[in-house]
Amino acid sequence: MRDERTFTITTPIYYVNGRPHIGHAYTTIAADTIARYRRMKGHEVFFLTGTDEHGQKVLERATERGMDPKAHCDDMVVHWKAMMEKLGISYDRFIRTTDADHIATVTTVLQRLFDQDLIYKDTYKGWYHVSDEIFVTEKDIEEGKYDKSELREIEETNYFFKMGSYQQQLIDAIESNPTLIQPESRKNEVLGFLRKTLGDLCISRPKSRMSWGIELPFDDEFVTYVWFDALLNYLSGLGYDGSEGCTAHLKWWPANYHLIGKDILTTHSVYWSTMLFAIGQPLVQTLYAHGWWVSADGAKMSKSKGNVIDVDVLVDNYGVDATRYFFLREISFGADGGFTYEGFQQRYNVDLANDFGNLTHRGLSMALKWLGESVPPVGERTEAEAAIVARAREAVVEYDAQMEALQYNKALEAVISVVDATNKYIDTQEPWAINKRGDTARLQTVMRTLLEVSVYTGVLLAPFMPAKSAELLGKFGLDHDDAKRLLGAWLDDGPGLDALVEGAPVSLGEPLFPRFRQLPEAIVAMLTPDPTFEEWLAEQGVESVSDATKDAWQAMYARRHDEEKATKDLITFDDFGKLDLRAGLILEAGPHPKADRLLVLKVDVGEHKPRQVVAGIASKYAPEELVGKRVVVVCNLKPAKLRGVMSEAMLMAAGEKEVVDLASVVATPGEVVR
Ligand code: MSP
Repeated sequence: MRDERTFTITTPIYYVNGRPHIGHAYTTIAADTIARYRRMKGHEVFFLTGTDEHGQKVLERATERGMDPKAHCDDMVVHWKAMMEKLGISYDRFIRTTDADHIATVTTVLQRLFDQDLIYKDTYKGWYHVSDEIFVTEKDIEEGKYDKSELREIEETNYFFKMGSYQQQLIDAIESNPTLIQPESRKNEVLGFLRKTLGDLCISRPKSRMSWGIELPFDDEFVTYVWFDALLNYLSGLGYDGSEGCTAHLKWWPANYHLIGKDILTTHSVYWSTMLFAIGQPLVQTLYAHGWWVSADGAKMSKSKGNVIDVDVLVDNYGVDATRYFFLREISFGADGGFTYEGFQQRYNVDLANDFGNLTHRGLSMALKWLGESVPPVGERTEAEAAIVARAREAVVEYDAQMEALQYNKALEAVISVVDATNKYIDTQEPWAINKRGDTARLQTVMRTLLEVSVYTGVLLAPFMPAKSAELLGKFGLDHDDAKRLLGAWLDDGPGLDALVEGAPVSLGEPLFPRFRQLPEAIVAMLTPDPTFEEWLAEQGVESVSDATKDAWQAMYARRHDEEKATKDLITFDDFGKLDLRAGLILEAGPHPKADRLLVLKVDVGEHKPRQVVAGIASKYAPEELVGKRVVVVCNLKPAKLRGVMSEAMLMAAGEKEVVDLASVVATPGEVVR
């Protein structure tokens, strides 16, 4: 049995045939939140995530891009790692199925199963679903489960894993272990599936049809089926090498949780479990299948429908913590959710800006204004304070139980119930009235309660919103170690709302979640459909265009997004005024000692000695044609060395990479240019 103070959690490994969207972010945020929670509880955590890089889908995408599949994967994996970084994902290993240790594990496992006659060769004729990469049954087709255009009839020789022989063992395992597949409805779904005879699993693809995969060790004309390869990441990622006596992974295996979307329930509950039986490894403790995020009309997110929600848009506009919070708060883990920006913003405003913000900013402002920037004494607590303490105690118990059960939204509700109770407490206690009548002792007690509840929420929200929690706790001079210590104490003895030390400094800082009055402009712009060329022309007041100018109009239509972007970056007249632009006269020009591209010039800009300017204009001008040229010079650019030669100003010129022409004014050197 594994040490109870270790905790292993995994996400699916993501296909690198596209970029990440909120659906992928969802599983990852959920896994990260529980990983952080367990670490706060003092557990040693292994959090495994990564990318699934073999198989047809990835190969097709690489081919479309005209790239070698591995180069395509190397290029795509950057987006996945960037998503993890952006969301503050604290993984311990990011596995790629093209990693050498993973490939070695898969190869060893295959050879072992082959040697044990658990893998055999056979010819199969049937319907193959291209994008799901599975063989489908006639019955599935009759029931219309698959889009016919995606099906191909194939007859081929392949290798098969004796999955069917484990059917009863799997049913027994699921029935005798109520927590193996969760939620309950998913367990029933799998048991339903297992009522039909379980066939064997085709685990190879002939290279002649699809060559991007791990080669079978016993037949070099085949590669491994992508799912057989991918599922083994859960063991190879933990150090398992595939050999019979391997123990390297046992500190972390069996994993506590595989978090997956409901779409990949069968592969995990059936393929993976039977693979584990065959290699003599225990099953995961809990396979948790969550629901799907769909668009408001219930449609599946897909690139072709254009309804994919990009994680970056949310994080850039609302911040990483609000994004993390939303997904875990909005729906229960297991159910489906419909995403709209309006819904997101409403949740943000109600929970974060209003409820949480009211407590942590308005409460703190009052305390600091009336009692100074330090923690006030507790004073005598009345029934009103006792009620808050009692709520906080109950909520911690509830929160912990819900976190352990991955019921994130219920865990958050428990914390919010304390925030709500405290906001009501502010209203009923009317601290402004207490302040007015000068009852300092009472005011201190009430304010201290507010500060304590702020710290309490800062600690309990840390796994969900690590950055905002750190910011909030920082206002009280507390850090993550304090949060850990406090959580530990509260789980043992319950919180007494006495985390702070009287007299310790407190600072107000910025509101954590400023309110949004309307949808951010960037989102509105994104949601506004692009005008067609004709609509755009009409917007410009142009009814029709002549053949002679049509291309120019169309080029302008194509350029309009660049311009919108440029307008966003407009500078003010004052900004422009900061530039010291002057007329100059080139007195000398010569080559740069180290760079062919550069020339070194001496330019008169009206000062008592010329400025030395290093300019990247050698491709266009010979030094001798420059002497005597009148130019425009930026004179207040910070001097910098260019390949070892100091440059004290810059010439203005047309052209981005290559210079096209030098800007010129015929004026006395030193004359201001505007
Ligand atoms: N590569 C396989 C998994 C192999 S695991 C050994 C795969 N990859 S995937 O990139 O297509 O999707 C992985 C997971 O992303 C899904 O199972 C699910 O967890 C998540 N989601 C993708 N789209 C989603 C939504 N629209 N909503 C919620 N989660 C979804 O399948």
